[in-house]
Amino acid sequence: MMQLPIIRTQDLSKRYAMGDTVVHALREVSVEIQPGEMVAVMGPSGSGKSTFMNVVGCLDRPDAGHYQLAGETVESLSRDALAEIRNRRIGFVFQQFNLLPRTSALENVELPLLYTSLSKQQRIERARRRLDQVGLGDRLDHHPSQLSGGQQQRVAIARALVNDPVLILADEPTGALDTRTSLEVMALLQQLNRDGMTVVLVTHEHDIAAFASRIILFRDGRVISDTRNQAREASASLAQLAGEGGQAAAVAAAAADPEAGTDA
Ligand SMILES: Nc1ncnc2c1ncn2[C@@H]1O[C@H](COP(=O)(O)OP(=O)(O)O)[C@@H](O)[C@H]1O
Ligand SMILES: [Mg+2]
Repeated sequence: MMQLPIIRTQDLSKRYAMGDTVVHALREVSVEIQPGEMVAVMGPSGSGKSTFMNVVGCLDRPDAGHYQLAGETVESLSRDALAEIRNRRIGFVFQQFNLLPRTSALENVELPLLYTSLSKQQRIERARRRLDQVGLGDRLDHHPSQLSGGQQQRVAIARALVNDPVLILADEPTGALDTRTSLEVMALLQQLNRDGMTVVLVTHEHDIAAFASRIILFRDGRVISDTRNQAREASASLAQLAGEGGQAAAVAAAAADPEAGTDA
């Protein structure tokens, strides 16, 4: 049996009027993304990446063209119906995490479930399970300010997963993180992808796009290339970085203490 694409767009177009000029944010964009893909969306600033993600994420509607999300036609739905599909089927991850401050990790992850018919007990159970999955089972009561950037992004990923979405959309998920933490977040996204989740992320860093198995390049509102990529393993890059860090620490220690490193 043919599986339906998770994302199928045909000739998506979106224009913005800017005074008396028109900006073509998207021009006839046709893309299919299959279940289980991990796709990086790249392109210079202003090329249409966010507009594409907003339409694909049911946050915005195109002016023209068609969009089916997991077989469901969404381009002509009302705002309320779009919101409903968005909450039910898509998990969002943002550059700035977008967690509620002064609210525990558990409550942040529970939030998308408030609009469901689940009981409080069921909501807590699900939120706890997702925090366990991202390695934060021991940080349930911590507020965002008590967590590192990488931990906050993992809370955000747990929140994105809590509704059992068909798709994770991430706009620059590592944009606010250092190298090591970026690798940790990418390793987590790759793990989720291996477990079957479809992941689409925007990045302007080639080092991050290297972890995707497909790279779609936008320019001036068009897709100008769409290529398969032999994905690197983020966990291997992380191990390599740790190795280099260990060596650097040993070199620094040897420099500070000339006796170190010589055999006694
Ligand atoms: N709400 C808006 N109003 C007017 N112009 C917009 C709006 N959103 C995006 N644009 C324009 O559409 C083009 C594509 O923007 P965007 O999708 O944000 O690009 P990217 O995410 O690749 O930087 C840009 O020229 C941008 O200025
Ligand atoms: Mg953008």
